[in-house]
Order: sequence, then C-alpha cells, then structure tokens
Amino acid sequence: MSDVSSDDEKAKYYTQLGKYRMPNKNNYRQHAHCNPLSKISMGYPFSPECINWSLCYPIEFSSSPEDQKANSLLYLNTKTYPGPFTNENYKPISTTNTPKDFYSNPYVSIVDVGCGYGALLENMSSSLEKGSLALGLEIRDKVTNYVGERIKGLRLNTDNKEFNNISVMRSNTMKLLLNFFYKGQLDKLFFCFADPHFKRTNHRKRIINQYLLNEYAYLLKKGGRLYIITDVEELYIWERSMLNQNRCFKELDKIEVEKDIFTGFMKNTNEAKKVIKNKGEMFYSIYERVEPNIKNLSELYDCLDYTKDEKEEKEEKEGDN
Ligand SMILES: C[S@@+](CC[C@H](N)C(=O)[O-])C[C@H]1O[C@@H](n2cnc3c(N)ncnc32)[C@H](O)[C@@H]1O
Repeated sequence: MSDVSSDDEKAKYYTQLGKYRMPNKNNYRQHAHCNPLSKISMGYPFSPECINWSLCYPIEFSSSPEDQKANSLLYLNTKTYPGPFTNENYKPISTTNTPKDFYSNPYVSIVDVGCGYGALLENMSSSLEKGSLALGLEIRDKVTNYVGERIKGLRLNTDNKEFNNISVMRSNTMKLLLNFFYKGQLDKLFFCFADPHFKRTNHRKRIINQYLLNEYAYLLKKGGRLYIITDVEELYIWERSMLNQNRCFKELDKIEVEKDIFTGFMKNTNEAKKVIKNKGEMFYSIYERVEPNIKNLSELYDCLDYTKDEKEEKEEKEGDN
C-alpha cells in the first residue's frame, strides 16, 4: 500500500499525529502448526541469484529519495505481498557459486528461522554491524504479513532512519533454505522456540535433525554460530544430541554463551516473553561452525551414514503402532 492519496486511505494507514498505524497482532493470528513436510505451496527463488535483495532492504542498498519511497513497498513472498524473485531471468549458477559482486553489497548474514512475530529481529536491529542484514523466515502467511507491515511501520515512524537492516519473508525453511543463500554466506542462524512436535512419529518434522544440520553447516561460514533456545527440556536434549553428533558443530562453553550479546536478544523473543510471564525455564546453547575433524575414510563414511537415522525412524514407527 504505497500510494495513500485519499483522506480515507490516509486515515486507514496513518494516525492523527501522522504516524504510520502499526498492525494489530489480533488481525494476523493463524493456526500455529503448518505441516513443514507437506507439498510446497508458496513461491520460492530458483536459486540465491534470483532474489532482488534491494527490494527488501532499499535504504541499505541506496539512500536516494526514490528508495525511501520503495521502503513502503513490501516483498514478503506472501499472497498479499508477492516475493522479490526474478525466476524468469534464471540462469544456471556460476561455477564459483559466490558471485564477486554479491559480497561487495550489503548481504543477509543472519537468519531467524521460524521468526514468528519478529521480536528477535527488532531486538538485534540496532546492534548489527554496518552492511550486515538480518532476515526472518516464517512459514505462516498472515504472520509474515504482520512482521513485514510492522517493520515497514517501524521504518516509516523513524523517518526511514532505523530498522532498515531487518526484513522478513515467507518460506518453509525445511525445504527451501538452500534456495535462498550461498555456501558459507551466513554468520548466524537462530532457532528460537522451535515447534516441539512431541509425538514420536512427528520427530521428523523437527527443524533440527541430522539431514538439516548438514544444510545449516553448508550455509554457515567457518566460525559462524547456530543458536538454539526452548522452554521444552525434551526438545533441548534432542537438539543438543543432534548437534553433538554432527562434526561440523562445536558447543560453546557457558561463559562464551553469556558473553554473546545475541544470547540476550534470543531470551527476549515473543515466545520468550510468554515463558518469562509464566515463570517458566529457558534452555539455550550456542554452537560454532567448525571444520570437521575427520582422520580417515571410515570416519568419513560414519559421518555420512544416514541409514542409522532411517533405522531409528523405522523403529519409532513400529513402536507407535
Ligand atoms: C513457537 S514459534 C516461535 C516463534 C519465534 N521464534 C519466537 O521465539 O517468538 C515457531 C515458529 O516457527 C514457524 N515455523 C515452523 N516450521 C517452520 C518452517 N519449516 N519454516 C519456517 N517457519 C517455520 C512457525 O510458524 C512458528 O511461527
């Protein structure tokens, strides 16, 4: 909704004090559980090359007045705000897989997976280094609209001076994360209060598992960090056991965790606030992306042995029947 011309339109989008009306969360509520394993029913970029990031972060890419206007347009990959993809111009990925001019622009280096109502992005915005952009990825259409419209409001209400380095897009990260980013592009990946999927048959829907951890390792640069936090102890134990088995990740000690300013941000997401209100407990860890220490071929085969997971899954299914 960029062109607000009539008085009626103005009243709809702006308060009497001329401030942009922030979206009301109650109008964007949506059933909490989407099935992440169901068929993809949303748009997606064919490859990272197909995303025009300057549409999501216009001021970060240029500060011309035209781009300030663009700051009020939304490209969220939802039904209301289709995505900033140019799949029709799709060309095969270059052999280097990291185009030279890509890293000379600001680029997304922080991803909040399952960002929900987006508080983590807001919390971190003023602390990000220049040129570093954060993106929330959320599977629910309406919730993504809420976050997008809220970020737009925050930008407009600060005269386009703040919140220009955060954005959001709809995606099912369990299926599409590799379509969005290049190898080694990311510095930080957040998994805050992931859906616990308690039933054993649903454990394969958990967003931290051995298959997906290899994708996360592919996307994180060496020294990059993966953050987990949850109020469900059983899920925390599961996530840590997956991460501890994966040789591309090493857990940081408690002192390092508390030193990281992002720990404070992830203890203050929308879900975290509910936990604090109910006086619940939060369990959290940070893992660093390391070079896997593989000494011989048999160790390599061990790492690549997915049949273990398949066996476990089969046993679980049998146990549930
Ligand atoms: C319990 S909420 C946590 C929200 C937020 N991280 C917070 O801490 O407030 C989990 C979120 O993950 C989203 N989600 C679940 N599976 C997803 C997937 N495969 N891709 C993207 N988002 C997903 C859900 O829609 C939900 O908003």
